[in-house]
Amino acid sequence: MTKSNEVLIFDTTLRDGEQSPGATMTHDEKLEIAEMLDDMGVDIIEAGFPIASEGDFQAVSEIAKLAKSATICGLSRANYKDIDRCWEAVKHAKSPRIHTFIGTSPLHRAIPNLDMDEMAERIHDTVTHARNLCDNVQWSPMDATRTEWDYLCRVVEIAIKAGATTINIPDTVGYTAPIESADLIRNLISTVPGADDVIFATHCHNDLGMATANSLAAVEGGARQIECTINGLGERAGNTALEEVVMALKVRGDIMPYTTKIDTRKIMNISRRVATVSGFAVQFNKAIVGKNAFAHESGIHQDGMLKNRETFEVMKPEDVGLAGTSLPLGKHSGRAALRAKLNELGFDLADNQLNDVFVRFKDLADRKKEVFDDDLMALVTQNDAEDDRLKLKSLRVVCGTDGPQKADMVMEVDGADVETSATGDGPVDATFNAVKAIFSHGARLQIYQVSAVTEGTDAQATVSVRMEEEGRIATGQSADTDTVVASAKAYINALNRLLVRREQSEPGYDVKGVSYKDV
Ligand code: KIV
Ligand code: ZN
Repeated sequence: MTKSNEVLIFDTTLRDGEQSPGATMTHDEKLEIAEMLDDMGVDIIEAGFPIASEGDFQAVSEIAKLAKSATICGLSRANYKDIDRCWEAVKHAKSPRIHTFIGTSPLHRAIPNLDMDEMAERIHDTVTHARNLCDNVQWSPMDATRTEWDYLCRVVEIAIKAGATTINIPDTVGYTAPIESADLIRNLISTVPGADDVIFATHCHNDLGMATANSLAAVEGGARQIECTINGLGERAGNTALEEVVMALKVRGDIMPYTTKIDTRKIMNISRRVATVSGFAVQFNKAIVGKNAFAHESGIHQDGMLKNRETFEVMKPEDVGLAGTSLPLGKHSGRAALRAKLNELGFDLADNQLNDVFVRFKDLADRKKEVFDDDLMALVTQNDAEDDRLKLKSLRVVCGTDGPQKADMVMEVDGADVETSATGDGPVDATFNAVKAIFSHGARLQIYQVSAVTEGTDAQATVSVRMEEEGRIATGQSADTDTVVASAKAYINALNRLLVRREQSEPGYDVKGVSYKDV
C-alpha cells in the first residue's frame, strides 16, 4: 500500500480516557462527546470496551448507530467471547471496527502464562475469528515497546496473515523515546512480510512526558494512524493529546508534511466539554487548550504582540476555536445578547436550555458586574439535572477565627425539604458534614479542587470534587461567586451521580472491574 500523507486520527477518549480512575462518564455524556468527535472529523472513535459492562455495551452500540462519518471501534481482549460481544456492539455502525489486543512483552506474557508459541497461536486464532466477523480489524500487541523486536515482528506478521487491517503499536507504559519510536515502526514496516498492506498505528502514554513527540516520531517512521484523547485524558499521566498532535502537524507542515481531517476550530469546545464531564480540569499552561496557552502577561510579550502577533504566537487562537476577546455581558444584557454570545462560544442551546441558563446568568449578573466568557462557560457546563434526587435549597455558614465553623442547610431529598446544622473544621468541612447529616452515605471524598474562573475578588469559583463508593467513582462540579456554595453544589452533584451509578450497576458494571489479565 503506498503510504499517503494523510494521518488518521483515532480517538480513544471514550475508552482509554474514560478508563482512567475518576473519569467515568454517563451514557448521555458519552453520546454527546462521540457526536462532537464525529463532527470535528475524527476518523475512528474507540467508543468503549463492550464486554466490560452492560453500560459500556449500550454506549458503544448507540454510538455505532448514531455516528455519521467516523468508523466506530470497540475494544476486546484476545478471546472469542470478548470479540463476539464487541462485534454485537459495533456491527450497527456504517463503518465498524473490532480492536483486539494481547500483552506481548515478557512481563505481559507471564500473566496468562502463555509461552511464545502458545501466544502466537492465540493471536492467530483470535484475529482470524475477528476477521470472520468484520472486514476492519485492528490488532495491538500491548506493551509493544518492551517486547523483544524479533518476537514483535513474528506476531505482527501472524496478525497480518490472519487478516488484521491495522496494526497498532502501543507504548503502554510511556517508556519509549522519539528516536526509538520512529525506528520501531520503520523496522516493522521494512521487515515484516505484508506490512505494506496494512496501516500502522501509534498509541502512546505520557508517563515520561513524551507521548506527543513519540507519536509524531512514529509518523516519521511510517505510522499513519495516531491514537489519542482529548486533553490527553487517560490512565496515569494520560495518552497522547489529540489537540497537540493535530496542531503540531498543522503548524509544522513545513517539516512534517502530513495532514489530518480534523476541523481544528472545534478543539476548544470539545476540550472544555471533556474537562467538565470527566471532572479532569485542564492545567492552565497545557499546550493548545490551557487557559494561559494564548495569554500574554509580560510587558515585552504584550508589546511584541501589539506590533505583530507572530512575534510570540505560532498559531492563531481562532485556529483552535478561541473567539477573539469581546465585551463582557452585564445585568442589562438580554436573552438575544446571551444567545449570540453563547453561539460565538460554540454552544447551540435549545430554547428551554437557554431559559435555564438565562435565569442563572441574571442571578450571576446581579452579583457580579461583568460576566466574562469563562463565567458563561462555567454556567452552561453546570452539571445539575432536573431529576437530581438531591438539591441544595439554602446554605448559611458562620465563619470566624475562633471556630468551629457552622453550616445551616436546607436540602431537598426526593422532593422533600430537610433542614440541619453541622459544625466542622472550616466552612467547607462544616458544609460537607451538613450534607452528610441530611443524606447519610458511605462515599469517600478523593479530590476537592477549587479554581477561580476569572480574575478579581468577585470571580466565580469552580469547584470539582471526586467521590468514591464501593469502587464506583463520580465527579461533581459547580461554579458560584461564593466558594462554599460552589463546594456544596459540587459535592451534591457528585453524590447525585453516584446515586445514578448505583442504580445502574450490576455485577461487573464498572469498567475498572474488568482485568486485562483475563485473556
Ligand atoms: O495502552 C495500551 O496498551 C492500550 C491497549 C489496550 C491498546 O490501551
Ligand atoms: Zn492505552
